[in-house]
Amino acid sequence: MDKVLARGSGNPAARPRARTALTLAVAGVAVVAATVTVASSASAGTTLGSAAAESGRYFGTAVAAYKLSDSTYVGILNREFNMVTPENEMKWDATEPSQNQFNYTNADRIVSHAQANGMRVRGHALAWHSQQPGWAQSLSGAALRSAMTNHVTQVATHYKGKIYAWDVVNEAFADGGTGARRDSNLQRTGDDWIEVAFRAARTADPGAKLCYNDYNTDGQNAKSNAVYAMVQDFKARGVPIDCVGFQSHFNSASPVPSDYQANLQRFANLGVDVQITELDIEGSGTTQADNYGRVVRACLAVSRCTGITVWGIRDSDSWRASGTPLLFDGSGNKKPAYTSVLNALNGGGTPPPTTAPPTTTPATTAPPTTPPPSGNGCTGSLTLNQWQGGFVTYVRVTAGANPINGWNVVLTLPGGATITNTWSAQPSGTTGTVNFRNLDYNGSIAPGQSTEFGFQGTGVGPSGTATCSVR
Ligand code: G3I
Repeated sequence: MDKVLARGSGNPAARPRARTALTLAVAGVAVVAATVTVASSASAGTTLGSAAAESGRYFGTAVAAYKLSDSTYVGILNREFNMVTPENEMKWDATEPSQNQFNYTNADRIVSHAQANGMRVRGHALAWHSQQPGWAQSLSGAALRSAMTNHVTQVATHYKGKIYAWDVVNEAFADGGTGARRDSNLQRTGDDWIEVAFRAARTADPGAKLCYNDYNTDGQNAKSNAVYAMVQDFKARGVPIDCVGFQSHFNSASPVPSDYQANLQRFANLGVDVQITELDIEGSGTTQADNYGRVVRACLAVSRCTGITVWGIRDSDSWRASGTPLLFDGSGNKKPAYTSVLNALNGGGTPPPTTAPPTTTPATTAPPTTPPPSGNGCTGSLTLNQWQGGFVTYVRVTAGANPINGWNVVLTLPGGATITNTWSAQPSGTTGTVNFRNLDYNGSIAPGQSTEFGFQGTGVGPSGTATCSVR
């Protein structure tokens, strides 16, 4: 299935620049093959962060506090990345070495560095079976449950307002084909420990996105199915969860799955953001570069894939250094994998709505995140991703009881907000009240089904609902 889409072509002010034709051809999977030709007025980003920002995404890295005195390391960090994840410094053993005595020294160094250099922070991780302090490892039952809740509350409160997203719970499911929870001291306190952690985090820092994060969930398998069922259940019961992190540690024994994009998309269809949180791919040269490119393009093809974090800067910084899995060599030189990632970020332009989906998730069959209207017409519901100085708003257009063949969404931007980029709709302007009209390919929506468009801008973005009418 090939689809060719020209985006932004209706904007007379734009100087469309045909970008690289991306061909996602995944060996052995006939359904995932798409060509996306993108025309956009945006200029190509020259760094990972600026290229990702063109489509409203971030590009981050894991950071170790003790390396912040290494000038080569810091030079690359400050030049290339706009999100950081403390590699170890926010973990339970680091932040609460003795019960109820908190030490934020190293984590604070990373947060301060990020803030001073215009980067955001992913918090990692509040509740995890690993890297617990000794005192917690020896607890069980109600005492452990209470200690965990206190830990989540204290740490999330300390960083309140400073964290873009928290990995609230990390790696809670077992490997293998059972789909069971991982056995751990936390799990033995009762199945509900995960939702207790999420509720405590929401109470402590209502502004942070709350994520579940895991590995070996990058393709569809028993483990990712179990996480999927948990997220579905949380959404149904109102347990606060906003995002799912896919660690994406790859090597020859655990390659990039052929259904990587489809797996991201099915989670996104549950109404959560998805993020690639700890990316590294062992290897070298063209093969490694190609694999990195595939991963980046998969994220770009999923509108709710909001960003990518690599798990370290130079190969020598990696927890798997011998596998040379990162984008810079030990001397800090850009590897072919770097160029592949940058090209993919620039080629991707704006988040395709449903432009290059595997055929398993066609554009208009994603479940609506809001109940469809019972009558005719359509509704428009907004999801806002806001950061200091900028925003991305996603608008889900849902058909009512009858099929529609064209739609208009009207919304009013807050004063001072200016749209810099729109995808999957044609805007009438960039400020004030803006009318967004469907493009040729996404005007038809079946009853109760939906499609999504989005826009990026400066200032404070709109949220809530928008007026939707049928054309
Ligand atoms: O700081 C001590 C040092 O004082 C001591 O001399 C040395 C001796 O072993 O250990 C040092 O601590 C190590 C720490 O990294 C900092 O380098 C720990 O032993 C080591 O276990 C720890 O490894 C971290 C690992 O998580 C622990 O599980 C890696 O750096 C970190 O990259 C890795 O990250 C995890 C994510 O959090 C979750 N997903 C998987 C990912 C990779 O394992």
